[in-house]
Amino acid sequence: METSLQVKRSLSKSNTKTRSSRLPGFYKLDLAQRLDKLDEWHKLTRDEKWMIKKETLTPELADVMIENAIGVFGMPLGVAVNLQLNNKDYIVPMAIEESSVVAAASNAARLIRENGSMNAHTSEQIMISQIQIVDVADPQRAKKMIEGEKERLMSVANQKDFTIVRLGGGINDIEVEILETKSGPMIIANLIVNCLDAMGANIVNTMAETLGPIIAELVDGEVICQIVSNYSDRRMVKVKFELDNVDCLGRASFDGKRAAERIIKAYHFADASPHRAATHNKGVMNGIDGVLIATGNDWRAVEAGIHTYASKDGKYRPVTHYYFNDEGKFTGEIEVPLAVGIVGGITKIHPGVKTLLEMMNVETSAELAQVVAATGLIQNFAAIWTLATEGIQKGHMTLHAKNVAVFAGAIGEMAIRIADQMAHEGRVRFDRAKELLKHFMMKEKCDDPENKDSHECVDNDFDEIMTDKTNN
Ligand code: MEV
Repeated sequence: METSLQVKRSLSKSNTKTRSSRLPGFYKLDLAQRLDKLDEWHKLTRDEKWMIKKETLTPELADVMIENAIGVFGMPLGVAVNLQLNNKDYIVPMAIEESSVVAAASNAARLIRENGSMNAHTSEQIMISQIQIVDVADPQRAKKMIEGEKERLMSVANQKDFTIVRLGGGINDIEVEILETKSGPMIIANLIVNCLDAMGANIVNTMAETLGPIIAELVDGEVICQIVSNYSDRRMVKVKFELDNVDCLGRASFDGKRAAERIIKAYHFADASPHRAATHNKGVMNGIDGVLIATGNDWRAVEAGIHTYASKDGKYRPVTHYYFNDEGKFTGEIEVPLAVGIVGGITKIHPGVKTLLEMMNVETSAELAQVVAATGLIQNFAAIWTLATEGIQKGHMTLHAKNVAVFAGAIGEMAIRIADQMAHEGRVRFDRAKELLKHFMMKEKCDDPENKDSHECVDNDFDEIMTDKTNN
């Protein structure tokens, strides 16, 4: 059973070049049908489907993962479809509570694959951990002493993780700096570690706590912090898309060229204003965090790193850029530090994460980082394309209206019908949703020939309630 599943999966993986994540009408399917579609993409067992749909994490597992556990917190899990990156197709899981985000990512991914291309590059998977040594009598001499012992220290650190060393990673260097601080000069030993497919915080923290006391003794100082830096600026990913022409950007009353120019001006606004840059980057993080959560990665660490990177010039700036390149092609670009893992952490414990990572079909942490960054880029692109053309409230209003309709008791098609009507009226309110629900249910009843002559149907003025009162 297990073997035949593996065979089916490796067959679908071997179709990587032909397997398409372009899934027209995916959003129109119901939840069960979507899971069936995913089954075509990546053979899912019944258990896995159940786990994705119902129970990605049990309270018992939660109890092992954190202290004082009292349950499991649910969040919607969706997939962004249509993404093509470096000529490979991806289905991207996203855990996010905000409406519009998954739809926006899927739409932008479709637009890019149909009108251009998107490519990504990553640096080595280098993490830095820092050892802080204080109260050193002669910092310059101490720095030289640590540098003189580098080889020995690195070999001690590497003994802490044979696996990573055997696979080609491990500590590469120790960079020593003298930092002037409010408490006077300090020695900071930065461990430079290649973490391969692990996020690496655990590995580098262990190395730092091993070397900290040894270095402190060597320079006759006192060790304080021994911890990973979440500013992983040697673990960078860059993603760029180009559109062959801009006609596809035409929207609302703007033709494609005008829309493209307005997107670039919206980006320039963010580049000049930290107030706008924060919201611009929030749009990026809508994409990035959703994937990080669904793949069991530490989104707080990535957030901290990206915002630090956004401020590296002494001013908070957008992490994406839009421009016409030398060939005149509209181009979008993101460059961010991204420390993610596909091994270690909760990737093995959390049953949902394991399946979702397999479904994504990423082979390395670098590849996962590329997909994560691409999702951030297209998310941001979708947001500012909307802002620069029709504004965001129109789309938000429809989705918000659907939530209100569901809250009022409507389900399925009925919720959509009520939402459309409320959005059309510009009157998205719980009482209106209740009123419309009652109306549509009565109408359905009275459309049945058996009921049409009944009192309540004959006396009902169905047109009255549908009057668009906002226009009166
Ligand atoms: C909303 O979650 C995100 C946006 O505000 C991003 C932006 O303004 O660029 C739409």
